[in-house]
Amino acid sequence: MPEDRIQVHDLVFQPYLTERKINERVRLLGMRINRDYEGRNPLFLAVLNGAFMFAADLFRQVVISCEISFVKVASYDGTESSGAVKDLLGLNEDLEGRHVVVVEDIVDSGLTMRAMLDRLSAKNPASVRIASLLLKPERLREDIHVDYLGFEVPDKFLLGYGLDYNGQGRNLRSIYEPVDPDADQSAPSTLPR
Ligand code: IMP
Ligand code: MG
Repeated sequence: MPEDRIQVHDLVFQPYLTERKINERVRLLGMRINRDYEGRNPLFLAVLNGAFMFAADLFRQVVISCEISFVKVASYDGTESSGAVKDLLGLNEDLEGRHVVVVEDIVDSGLTMRAMLDRLSAKNPASVRIASLLLKPERLREDIHVDYLGFEVPDKFLLGYGLDYNGQGRNLRSIYEPVDPDADQSAPSTLPR
């Protein structure tokens, strides 16, 4: 197996976005946030678990005064069209009149973000914007605008830099994509062993 490939559970992954490319982009997003939120004392709400690495790198670039907190979204079986009710956990801050920036790893269908936005706007913030490292436009089912976007990505299962595959791979410094076994005959089988 080539050195830059990794196996996680039954799948083999190859590099998709390098650490360097991610860092460059995150730096840029941080600069834009500094410019847009100067003097507004924004409240950042980073969504656990996936956003922890993006959030840590992004916040290192933020030099204006701000507050940082972490929330979690829990899914339960429910009667909504998505089949799941999403609850917002860990939000202890008073949002009244605050400028809120939600920090996410990835917006996929957008259902998680939609649930977040609904919960947040009920608390009368002055504004809510979204920072997300990744967005899969082809998968989007909700009308969500990402204000601070790292990268648009295709409809592939990505791993690393906070994103996990059944709990594994969050610690990887780059973002990986699954190897297509048909595209490369030397690739090992990705079938479960
Ligand atoms: P959404 O509600 O469909 O937008 O998806 C939200 C969550 O699904 C994200 O916060 C991730 O935790 C997870 N997710 C979506 N796409 C991927 C992926 O490509 N790799 C790993 N996790 C993903
Ligand atoms: Mg997430």
